[in-house]
Amino acid sequence: LGPQRATEIRSLIRDVPGYPHEPIVFRDITPLLADGPALADVVEAFARLCEGDDGHGVDVVAGMEARGFLLGAPLAMRLGVGFVPLRKAGKLPPPVDRVSYDLEYGSAALELRSGTIRAGARVLVVDDVLATGGTAAAAVELVERCGGHVVAAAFLMELDGLGGRARLAGTAVETLLRVG
Ligand code: PRP
Ligand code: ADE
Repeated sequence: LGPQRATEIRSLIRDVPGYPHEPIVFRDITPLLADGPALADVVEAFARLCEGDDGHGVDVVAGMEARGFLLGAPLAMRLGVGFVPLRKAGKLPPPVDRVSYDLEYGSAALELRSGTIRAGARVLVVDDVLATGGTAAAAVELVERCGGHVVAAAFLMELDGLGGRARLAGTAVETLLRVG
């Protein structure tokens, strides 16, 4: 995203102070999702991270429920690769692999159907928000435990001051916007 388009895209993310509780400022991407050209530009910007000599050579995209699905599935289609949903606990039939984690405003667990990821597959992990990095670290752990290789973790926005990037040390982190 160029600087001007990044500013426009940022203006389509709604800041909601006190949701789900103080002192969280919730970053709501639904206005962006509802804007066709903005959604297309975001997916295209993610796709460009994966192309060219310094691209990541992606075999499959993995996204975390729920907002990672909304960006990851169109990106996978754009790249011509498959999409792997990392689901919240209790949604997938067995057998599953599971990793529990804490996030900015709670705790949860992600599950992946055992055998979904081919051994050695190059996996791009995609989500909307990198906050504490708890969700993303769990996603990386889950994919790698299941035999995949996480080539990068890509986010629409990185929230400053919550340590997410440090939590993902050892993984290439790509973010389209920084939000303070
Ligand atoms: C949000 C967001 C990320 C995660 C980031 O998901 O979409 O997945 O929190 O927070 P962290 O970096 O502190 O882990 P949430 O669990 O609220 O689920 P949702 O997508 O179903 O709304
Ligand atoms: N996930 C974790 N922290 C968040 C925030 N502040 N806004 C939206 N999603 C989030």
